Amino acid sequence: MSGLLCGTCGAPYPMEDPRWRCDCGGLLDIRFQARFDKRKIVRRKPTMWRYREAIPIENDASIVSFDEGMTPMIPVDLGPGELLLKLEQLFTTGSYKDRGAAVLVSKAKELGIERVVEDSSGNAGCAIAAYAAKAGIRCEILVPESTSPGKLAQIRFYGAALRRVPGSREDTASAAMSAAETTYYASHSWNPFFFQGTKTFAYEVWEQMEFRAPDAILLPAGNGTLLIGSYIGFRELREAGLVDRIPRHVAVQAENCAPLLAMFRGGLHAVPTIESRETIAEGVAIAAPVRGKEIVDIVRRTGGEVVAVDDAQVEKALLLLGRKGLYVEPTSALPVAAFLEYPSLRSGVVVAPLTGHGLKATGKMQKIASNG
Ligand SMILES: Cc1ncc(COP(=O)(O)O)c(C=O)c1O
Ligand SMILES: [Zn+2]
Repeated sequence: MSGLLCGTCGAPYPMEDPRWRCDCGGLLDIRFQARFDKRKIVRRKPTMWRYREAIPIENDASIVSFDEGMTPMIPVDLGPGELLLKLEQLFTTGSYKDRGAAVLVSKAKELGIERVVEDSSGNAGCAIAAYAAKAGIRCEILVPESTSPGKLAQIRFYGAALRRVPGSREDTASAAMSAAETTYYASHSWNPFFFQGTKTFAYEVWEQMEFRAPDAILLPAGNGTLLIGSYIGFRELREAGLVDRIPRHVAVQAENCAPLLAMFRGGLHAVPTIESRETIAEGVAIAAPVRGKEIVDIVRRTGGEVVAVDDAQVEKALLLLGRKGLYVEPTSALPVAAFLEYPSLRSGVVVAPLTGHGLKATGKMQKIASNG
């Protein structure tokens, strides 16, 4: 049986129901039997769609794609420990969010949807706007006023209607939820199809490690779209008997906005209300992550940790990455900063994504370069 399933009350809905939450208000997940045929996988084009039987899109004709995925994964020597970096900044819109947007917008096309709305600190908005443009779907993106100008230009270029919302990231989310009463909500945090795209990160890591799982994955986490996706992907591989364990999932937050850290350290069962301050890691400045409990449950279940790094540590990691030829936006340096700061995170083979391109945040990068 496949379909949508409420994580709160267990209500099932058909896969074709264009809803983004349960009638009870709960978050929806996807029930779907992912299948893997290694012989077919290795013969296909090097894109995330080589795992076709694991992605819940009915018809190939619905697929909206820029041949994305199979990003390189390379070893980087930063001193002690074995670290592999997956170059997720190389997607067509410059961030890993394309994985989620590719599947979500393909599903929207399959459902015959003509208009979508999304709220984002920038990168998810860029990704949804680009894929909507390719699909010929009208798109409105809501962003906080503080979003980097490069990302705003990018969203406008894709032809989306852009609305800048004053106030916090949470104010932008509430405005989007009102808009979603009449328009399909292409939300990267609520819409479960987004995670059916980000899960392909795990499949690629598995294939690039010669069909094995690493010991740990370090990920920047705000709404946890890559962390949750990675977990789903490894869980499916384990269910299919293709790996024997799920790697430790480590969530890295910015010290100035760290609700998941507060939940993890406090042994809590829900995300507490926290005070947050500005951080250069704008991608993870999420004070009230809707799937926060799911993220911390994954961390606990896989034997991982939640850690935080401060802006100075992020800058140091960014400059170090630059000297290795890797130019990424500040949020992307969180896992590398954590790897450098916390010796406990360096055991075994560790994988981390570089989530977004440095060219997206030129203003911030210029300031950091002049400090460095
Ligand atoms: C470059 C980059 N890295 C990491 C993240 C964190 O993603 P999430 O909030 O889904 O955990 C974001 C989110 O916008 C991002 O833009
Ligand atoms: Zn429900």
